[in-house]
Amino acid sequence: MHPYFSLQGRTALVTGGTRGIGKMIAKAYVEAGATVYVCARDVEACRQTADELGALGRCHAVAANLATEEGVQQLATRLGEQMTHLDILVNNAGTTWGAPLESYPIKGWEKVMQLNVTSVFNCIQQFLPLLRKAGSPANPARIINIGSVAGISSFGEQAYAYGPSKAALHQLSRILARELVSQHINVNVIAPGRFPSKMTQHIDRDAQALAQDTALIPMKRWGREEEMAALAISLASTAGAYMTGNIIPLDGGFSL
Ligand SMILES: NC(=O)c1ccc[n+]([C@@H]2O[C@H](COP(=O)([O-])OP(=O)(O)OC[C@H]3O[C@@H](n4cnc5c(N)ncnc54)[C@H](OP(=O)(O)O)[C@@H]3O)[C@@H](O)[C@H]2O)c1
Repeated sequence: MHPYFSLQGRTALVTGGTRGIGKMIAKAYVEAGATVYVCARDVEACRQTADELGALGRCHAVAANLATEEGVQQLATRLGEQMTHLDILVNNAGTTWGAPLESYPIKGWEKVMQLNVTSVFNCIQQFLPLLRKAGSPANPARIINIGSVAGISSFGEQAYAYGPSKAALHQLSRILARELVSQHINVNVIAPGRFPSKMTQHIDRDAQALAQDTALIPMKRWGREEEMAALAISLASTAGAYMTGNIIPLDGGFSL
C-alpha cells in the first residue's frame, strides 16, 4: 500500500462496525494498519467481529447502545480508559423505518432521528477531547459521518424520517467542519447509494425489486465493498488531510 493511504499507528472507532457498511470500513482500516474499535448493541456480533478482524490485524469490540445518551457516555468512558487519543471517528450506526404516510408512526420518526442525528452529535461531543489530542496541523484527526443519497435526492421510498435525518447529518457535518478546522479535526460525509447490508437485504433478496432498484442507478449496479473501503481509507489517511466539509456521494451516479 502506498504510504499516502497507510493508517499505520492510527486509532479508529467505527460505530455499527459489526456488519454492512461499518464492517466494510472497519476491515479496511484494520488492513491499512490501524487499531480499530467497533461497537454495536449485539454482544455476540461484537465478539465475532473482533475475532474475525483481529485475525487480520488489531480489532477490539465494545458493546454499546448509541440510541441513548447514557449508552454513548458509557462507550466514551470505556474507550477513554483504553486509548490516549482517537485519530478517526466513523459515525456509521444508523437505522431506517418505512410505512405509509398516513400511518407513519411518530415513534419510528423519533427512533430514526435519535440514532441518525442525535446520537452522532452526542458521539462527536463525547469523543472531542480524544480527537483534539490526536489532531495536528500536519495530520488532522478525522470525523467521517455516514450520510446517504437519501439526504440529497427526493427519492423517499416511504422512509419519511430517513432522508430528513441524513440531510440533517450532512448539514451538521458542514457546520462542525467549519468550527473544528481550527482544532485540526476534519469532518466529511460519505453519502452512499445502495450497498449490500441488512438494511437493504429486503431488496437484494427479491429479484424483481432488485431489478427495479438497479434500473434507477446510472451505473446499473449496487456499490461494492472495495469501493466503500477505498473511499473510507482515503478520507482517513494523508489522501484526505486537506479535505473537510465535503458531502461525497458514493452512488454510481444515483444522486445525479
Ligand atoms: N446499505 C445502504 O445501502 C446504505 C445506503 C446509504 C446509507 N447507509 C447508511 O450506512 C450506515 C450503515 O448502514 P448498513 O446498511 O450497513 O446497516 P446495517 O447492516 O443495519 O448495520 C447497522 C449497524 O449499526 C449497528 N447499530 C444499529 N443500531 C445501533 C444502536 N442503537 N447502537 C449501536 N449500534 C447500532 C448494528 O448493530 P446492532 O444491531 O447489533 O446494534 C450494525 O452494526 C447507516 O448510517 C445507513 O443509514 C446505508
